[in-house]
Amino acid sequence: MFYKMSEGHGLPHDPFKAILAPRPIGWISTVDVHGVHNLAPYSFFGAVSSNPHMIGFSSEGLKDSVANAKTSGEFVYNVASIDLLHEMNTTSQGVAPEIDEFKLANLDSLPCSLVAPRRVAQAPASMECRVVHCTQLQGVDGKLTQRYMVIGQVLAIHIRDDLLAEGRFNTAGANLLARCGYRDYTAVEKVFELHRPSEKQGNSQGPSS
Ligand SMILES: Cc1cc2nc3c(=O)[nH]c(=O)nc-3n(C[C@H](O)[C@H](O)[C@H](O)COP(=O)(O)O)c2cc1C
Repeated sequence: MFYKMSEGHGLPHDPFKAILAPRPIGWISTVDVHGVHNLAPYSFFGAVSSNPHMIGFSSEGLKDSVANAKTSGEFVYNVASIDLLHEMNTTSQGVAPEIDEFKLANLDSLPCSLVAPRRVAQAPASMECRVVHCTQLQGVDGKLTQRYMVIGQVLAIHIRDDLLAEGRFNTAGANLLARCGYRDYTAVEKVFELHRPSEKQGNSQGPSS
């Protein structure tokens, strides 16, 4: 099939998110001006750059995570793993800003080193970030949308010690959770290695980009 966005897909549900799958879940923690901690999942999320290391998430509407990241200039990305599925889902509830989703989901939190938001204690890894861009997106017609993108530079990374083996982060062991389309999820259970044509076999560190 082929369709123009202007004419619609004619399907029962929009296939867009199912095609762009799997998407890692950015489990974003922030803190508001009153010191209330906030935690919410964002699957419009990903790596943007390395050296400097940058990651970003985007929000459909001006949600608490964006508002807090914009005002405080900080956010933390917590890795969501399959064993944290229900806690992650609980933190997606549209609750009032004064509700701390760590408490709502019965999650333990730990302080960060360089930023004020707390991090999920059980998460396989967390990244402390400082905001470098916070933008209201515009469409091809030049009109502003109600979509907001936040990009942060990673200042520090926490990795659970049990997930480091021989100097490598065990991605499959961490069972990273990812979002597909509709109500579908997946988790990384196994990985395979592929070398670039120019690389010698046996270099398992991976390409720099
Ligand atoms: C797995 C998952 C992924 C989500 N991804 C997004 C997303 O990319 N953008 C968005 O605006 N909302 C997303 N949501 C919904 C938000 O998590 C939800 O609106 C939440 O209440 C926002 O919280 P906040 O206002 O504290 O930031 C997602 C929900 C789930 C369960």
